[in-house]
Amino acid sequence: MTKINKNYLELQGSYLFSTIAKKVKAFTEANPEKKIIRLGIGDVTRPLTPTIISSLHSAVDEMANKETFRGYAPDLGYEFLRSAIAANDYKMRGCDIEADEIFVSDGAKCDSGNIQEIFGEDNVIAVCDPVYPVYVDSNVMAGRSGKAIEGTGKYSNIIYMPCTKENGFAPECPTEVPDIIYLCFPNNPTGATITKTELQKWVDYANEHDSVIIYDAAYEAYIKDEDVPHSIYECDNAKTCAIELRSFSKNAGFTGVRLGFTVIPKELVRDGVSLHTLWARRHSTKYNGAPYIIQRAGEAVYSDAGKEEIKGLVGYYMTNASYILKGLKDAGYEVYGGVNAPYIWLKTPNNMTSWEFFDHLLETANVVGTPGAGFGPNGEGYFRLTAFGDYNDTVEAISRIQKM
Ligand SMILES: Cc1ncc(COP(=O)(O)O)c(C=O)c1O
Repeated sequence: MTKINKNYLELQGSYLFSTIAKKVKAFTEANPEKKIIRLGIGDVTRPLTPTIISSLHSAVDEMANKETFRGYAPDLGYEFLRSAIAANDYKMRGCDIEADEIFVSDGAKCDSGNIQEIFGEDNVIAVCDPVYPVYVDSNVMAGRSGKAIEGTGKYSNIIYMPCTKENGFAPECPTEVPDIIYLCFPNNPTGATITKTELQKWVDYANEHDSVIIYDAAYEAYIKDEDVPHSIYECDNAKTCAIELRSFSKNAGFTGVRLGFTVIPKELVRDGVSLHTLWARRHSTKYNGAPYIIQRAGEAVYSDAGKEEIKGLVGYYMTNASYILKGLKDAGYEVYGGVNAPYIWLKTPNNMTSWEFFDHLLETANVVGTPGAGFGPNGEGYFRLTAFGDYNDTVEAISRIQKM
């Protein structure tokens, strides 16, 4: 008889965004005349920029000719893209990362879920609380989480690192030492960042304890402040303890196009084995490479015109972020994030729970956001709005919230 992977039965509830979608669907069916504004999910709304579009078109044309047609892409990514990434995202920031330490993929969500596969099942992971749910759920599926602890939203074998307003939503290094530490800055959901000095403490801690940091920098393009690092490899000795995840989704609007990459330095060794080698093996066995057409579009992101256009996209969303931040502050809300990140993290008013505020916002202002509790116990009492909406919709949403 076929057996299922019983770890899946440990997953708690349905995925956050499907619960939201169900609630919004029910509200829309009951109130078809109301115009809903969605500032919930982290999807972009601006179209791809002209330079990206023209690179996509010419790559499509190449596929129509026998001489320029491409079949399977190299498993680890085309050299032209890996070199562009190494030069622009790393060398230009003083990080010594080579093209062959970059593994091109179809996005950071898959990589953040898949990367745990190269680690033993008995590793203890640490996550921020609140956290991007994929890190936890993918470890539950792998059998690394232990049992769900009834009524807490937590698992017995996971170390939770509280991110509260008292610590600026940046966790302390835990006293119980984890084997794998997930960090994400600029943070989803809180919009918090940490300085290079603070990140260096994590790198030193990981090196001292032989832990590995999985550093999700999907939102690095939103960093404005000089003292906030774009890459963990800006810190000394990060190459012996850190893996970095990146995405083209939030900077270049590739959420539907799909492109990302993972960096594993060759110096990163655990249990006497190179993690670079393990990931290369995993990638070449289970992955057949991101499409050529999309990798050409990724290359175009690093052209001079591409860089300018991407600045424009990020600027558009950050205008929204500033508008939300100011509008909510003016309305008396306690708000965080939104400066180096496209996420605004607000304290729910009148001691409402996150889901109570979700319902209140949906029913009163017809605005959809994301309940903080969906990201972990310490998200309770908070709520996430995103800056990825249309500017006019964002203005309208804030005006409705101000009238609530
Ligand atoms: C922290 C974080 N990492 C990764 C992703 C997913 O990125 P991608 O679109 O490249 O899969 C998201 C998307 O919301 C995210 O918030």
